[in-house]
Amino acid sequence: MRSIKSLFVALFVALPAFSQVGYIPSEANQKARAEFEDARFGIFIHWGIYSILGDGEWAQQVQNLPYAEYSRMAAGFYPSKFDAAEWVSAIKGSGAKYITITSRHHDGFSMFGTKASPYNIVDATPFKRDIIGELAKECQRQGIKLHFYYSHLDWGREDYYPLGRTGWGTGRKIAAEGKKEHPATPLKRSYLDFMNTQLTELLTNYGPIGAIWFDGVWDQDAFSREEQPKIWNLYEQYALIHRLQPSCLIGNNHHMLPFEGEDIQIFEQDIPGQNEAGLSGQEISRLPLETCKTMNNSWGYNMKDKNYMSPAGVVQYLVRTAGKGANLLLNIGPRPDGTLPEEALARLKTLGAWLKVNGETIYGTDGGCIDKQDWGVTTQRGKTLYVHLLPQADNPLPETLQLNIPKAQNRLKAATLFAGGEKIPFKQTSKDITLTLPTLDNAQPDIILELTFAKEL
Ligand code: GLC
Repeated sequence: MRSIKSLFVALFVALPAFSQVGYIPSEANQKARAEFEDARFGIFIHWGIYSILGDGEWAQQVQNLPYAEYSRMAAGFYPSKFDAAEWVSAIKGSGAKYITITSRHHDGFSMFGTKASPYNIVDATPFKRDIIGELAKECQRQGIKLHFYYSHLDWGREDYYPLGRTGWGTGRKIAAEGKKEHPATPLKRSYLDFMNTQLTELLTNYGPIGAIWFDGVWDQDAFSREEQPKIWNLYEQYALIHRLQPSCLIGNNHHMLPFEGEDIQIFEQDIPGQNEAGLSGQEISRLPLETCKTMNNSWGYNMKDKNYMSPAGVVQYLVRTAGKGANLLLNIGPRPDGTLPEEALARLKTLGAWLKVNGETIYGTDGGCIDKQDWGVTTQRGKTLYVHLLPQADNPLPETLQLNIPKAQNRLKAATLFAGGEKIPFKQTSKDITLTLPTLDNAQPDIILELTFAKEL
C-alpha cells in the first residue's frame, strides 16, 4: 500500500494539470492583464436569436417561452445586414480597445459553428454564417482584441441539472417534474463536458482570444460560495482555458469575490465600490477591474427601451470608471437584421471624438490617488495627476479646488488646463493644494486639469 505521504506527493504533482488551486498566472497572462488594464474601454455585444423578439436577452425566461417553440426562431434568423467590418470600424472609432461578444447566452443558442450542438448559427439558421468567425477575422484585420461572453447556465438543455433559480417555465421535463429542491450534486457531467468542448472550439478556431467572460453562476444560488467552484467544476474549466491560451483572461460575473484561476474582476451595472443597481456589493479584489454597463436599460436589443444615457453622460461614466481604476465595458444590443441602433452609434462617435483628444488622461492610467469628489474624479500616471471636473446640471463647479494628496513630500510643480495648457494658480502646504480655477466651460462633459509633481504619486 502506498504511504499517505507518497499519495499526497502524487496528488500535489498531479494537481496543476487539472486544477487552478494555487494558481500563479503565467508570464503571458500577466502581460495580458497589464494590457487589459491599459485599455480602459471595451464594447460589449449582446446578440442572439432573442433579438428577433426585441425584448432583451431574457425574453425566454421573462415570458416563459417553451424551448420547443423558442428554438424555432433560429430557422427565421437571417441578419441580412450584418457586416463585421462595419461593426468593427464603428467600435474602433469609439476608441474602444476590445470587443466582448455573446458566443452563447442563457437561451443556449450558439452564435458560432459548433460540433457540440446543432442549436447554432451555422446549422440551425438559413444564414449559415459563423458570425463569431467573421468578427474574429475582422478584429484581427483591424487590430482590436476579441473576448467571448459564455453563459454557464442554460434554459433549454435537459442536462443543465440541477436547475437553478431561472428556467422553470421553458418547458423542460425536469421542470415539469417539479423538482424544486436542489440535490447537493454537481451539474451533470455531460453538461460540463459540453461546455468544455465548446470552450475548446472557441479557443482553437478563432485565433487569440483576449478573455472568456462567464455569466450565470448566480443561477445556482442555493449553493454556498465554497460549493460553487465544485458544482461547476470551475478549476478544471479554468485550467483548460489557460492551457489552450495562456494569455486568455478569465472573468466571471458571479457577483462575488473572484475564485482562484480568475484574472479579472467584473462588476455589473456599477463602478466598483458603488452598488446602485444592487449587483455589485462584493469587495474589490486586487485583480484588474471591469464594469459592464448598458447605455439604456437593456443588454439585448429592446425595441421599446429608448432610455439612453446622454452622450455626455456616457463620456462621464467612462471617466468615472477610469477614476476608480476600472475598465468600462459598454453594451450594445444589435437588431436582428444585424444593424447597430443609431442611438448606440451616436454615442460611439461622441466617445471616439472625445478620446481622440483626451485619451491620454484615460488609457494607461491608474485610478487617481484622490478618491471621487462632488466635482469629479482623478486618474494618474507617474508624476502626473489628471483632475477630471465633471459638471452636473445640479452641481456647479467650484471656483477654487481643494486637493489633499497622500504624500506630504511631493511638490506640485505645475498645474495647467489639459486643453490649451493655460496655467492655473495654486498654493501648496504639505499635503494640501488649493487651485484657483479660471472661468470654465460647463458645457463640456469633462474639464481636465493636468498636475505635474516632483515625484511619482
Ligand atoms: C446579467 C444578465 C445577463 C447579461 C449580463 C451582462 O448577468 O443576466 O443577461 O448578459 O448580466 O452583464
